[in-house]
Amino acid sequence: MALKNRLAKLIIDPAFRKPALLKFIFALDDLTGIDLVRALAPVKIMPASAELFQRCFAHFVAGEEISLYCSMELAKIAPDEAARKYLLIQADEERAHLEHFRVKLAQFGLGDDKLSRFVSPNFNKFRTTIEHAIERGDFLGALIGNNLVVEGLAICLLEYGCMDMRANSDEIAKFMDFVLEDERHHVRFGERRLLRMVEREEIDAAHAEDIFGEMWGHASKAIAEIPDVLDAMGLKPGELTEKARGYYQGRLSNAGLSFAF
Ligand SMILES: [Fe+2]
Ligand SMILES: [Fe+2]
Repeated sequence: MALKNRLAKLIIDPAFRKPALLKFIFALDDLTGIDLVRALAPVKIMPASAELFQRCFAHFVAGEEISLYCSMELAKIAPDEAARKYLLIQADEERAHLEHFRVKLAQFGLGDDKLSRFVSPNFNKFRTTIEHAIERGDFLGALIGNNLVVEGLAICLLEYGCMDMRANSDEIAKFMDFVLEDERHHVRFGERRLLRMVEREEIDAAHAEDIFGEMWGHASKAIAEIPDVLDAMGLKPGELTEKARGYYQGRLSNAGLSFAF
């Protein structure tokens, strides 16, 4: 581990392990208007203010809420019993992720009641597109929207970003790995189901491309809307866009699909 990280681990990690300390610092932040978290961090290894910290978590919470809603609703319109059962298991896992994020927020004294005002407008459009698909009983559209695009973006953020947080907090790294493992399964389910539809010629490829294109539009605009949040995760918008593009191309290829975007 780099000296910088060793030093930061020594100074910052105890704060993560003792959420009450961070809660106290955030409370002082609010009271004094001084960004004490930034002042206390010798290197930028975590969101540098209570607001930025909350904005990061807001996007993870919003993503989990969409996935929880979507897996429950997709189970209702699943084409067979195996898919229905899997989606109910997925819903249970999403509920657990959401609960974990909420517990973390509460430990840091950051209530989730104000979270919606931190979420990027285009991030919220994920939900609208998926809700419309579910309302018209469109299993294919909702599966692409959630199990490929939303879950895939979470994987990109957790895998490519948050490196400093991971390096400096064993607790946060463990938490992220736990979520990542589940999200990889959820994406794999989406890929396999799509491949099966492609192989059985049950897929409307033009519709699949339209839905994917709409979701990619929201994703790329959302990425451009939150440069400060991404910066706190150690990512640049352009870099994340390209990584996400490569990631989605890989998933689509596994599903037997190829779209230009
Ligand atoms: Fe999740
Ligand atoms: Fe998921």
